[in-house]
Amino acid sequence: MSDSQKVTAGEPLRVALLGCGVVGSSVARLLTEHADDLAARVGRPLELVGIAVRRAGRDRSDLPVDPALFTTDAESLVTRADIVVEVIGGIEPARGLIEKAMAHGASVVSANKALLAEAGPSLYASAAEHGVDLYYEAAVAGAIPILRPIRESLAGDDVRKVLGIVNGTTNYVLDKMDTTGQGFAEAVEQAQALGYAEADPTADVEGFDAAAKAAILASLAFHTRVSSDQVYREGITEVSAADVQAAREMDCVVKLLAICERTEVADADGVLTPGVSVRVHPAMIPRSHPLGGVRDAFNAVFVEADAAGELMFYGKGAGGDPTASAVLGDVVAVARHRVGGGRGPGESAYADLPVLGMGQALTRYHISLAVADRPGVLAQVATAFAAHDVSIETVRQKVVVDEEGGETRASLVVVTHTAPDAALSATVEALAALDTVHEVTSVMRVEGS
Ligand code: HSE
Repeated sequence: MSDSQKVTAGEPLRVALLGCGVVGSSVARLLTEHADDLAARVGRPLELVGIAVRRAGRDRSDLPVDPALFTTDAESLVTRADIVVEVIGGIEPARGLIEKAMAHGASVVSANKALLAEAGPSLYASAAEHGVDLYYEAAVAGAIPILRPIRESLAGDDVRKVLGIVNGTTNYVLDKMDTTGQGFAEAVEQAQALGYAEADPTADVEGFDAAAKAAILASLAFHTRVSSDQVYREGITEVSAADVQAAREMDCVVKLLAICERTEVADADGVLTPGVSVRVHPAMIPRSHPLGGVRDAFNAVFVEADAAGELMFYGKGAGGDPTASAVLGDVVAVARHRVGGGRGPGESAYADLPVLGMGQALTRYHISLAVADRPGVLAQVATAFAAHDVSIETVRQKVVVDEEGGETRASLVVVTHTAPDAALSATVEALAALDTVHEVTSVMRVEGS
């Protein structure tokens, strides 16, 4: 334990709060209202020594804290704390403040997914150098305890796959599309009107938010550094009412999934080497799958581990109090380390597995086609799959959908077995180029079955 970590018996642990938005306000209020219980759980009082805000003079009289605690001088605040809670978000100034806090001997609790997904390794290195803790449960899936279970409870097991609904906005939008038949734009507008989606929903609907969370989950699950720019990302802006309807017909539902998977790829000589696939994209999953029943803006993370089998974590992924719950859990954990000595786990990246490109990910596709209804068409379609070494699992020809120029059209629905994603997307391109394929109506990856 470094000198900066030594705490005299009975002395309060000083907590500095960086940021007083929705989450910060909840943290300040709960720290104050639950002070006695928190002190009993930690074994030492927690004293809020300052709250760094961007603008002074704003009315914050609704918070049960001394107004003298508010300061615009975050740089100085982080030098006089044992625990710094960062809920500012974004890369700077959060990163610089965290580095400075650690250099002054403070443990850090952060809710900053973008920062952890971009600069996790260097923050862990600073934490190790200065002998302090770095905890960030609130960065992924809000109130849901998922990082601690992966980092600590499953540390004796081997995680095979993590499938997460980690963005509430997109889950709300897709759920509305499913239940009302609305298109994407209409469902987003409704989500904005009800306060579920931001005025600029780009970070959510384009999958950036989920990609940062996927990078954090994969890093912990596979003991391998994964940054957000290594995560394949597709948002939900292209998901159409036709896609959602196609899913309904399969008794499936479309979800934006963060998928982290331990896998193997064959080299040119057929030798298998391990790697990890980390991706965010919309996918069909069966309604009967535990993630299929996650409605509205809720989050859930489904974990498959070699020995534990299947685990499901469910709850609120955003909001002041739910996120503050995760922050305060971390505050208690790092405070207990201060009192009892020792530190929580540092970075574990020993496995150092290669992060595979999307083309190498093993996926399954559901493809709906409008085709000419005449002899040989099915054979042509099947040949396109075979030419790319993609095996068909089911094929269903549905009702005649149209008649044009005397030629009858049919709707063909093909679900594949697992194949490299590059082979599947090349197959779709080849199908689209066939004269007998009038339209590729819907293409959606399939997960969870
Ligand atoms: N904007 C996120 C969501 C919450 O919609 O789930 C914060 O990560």
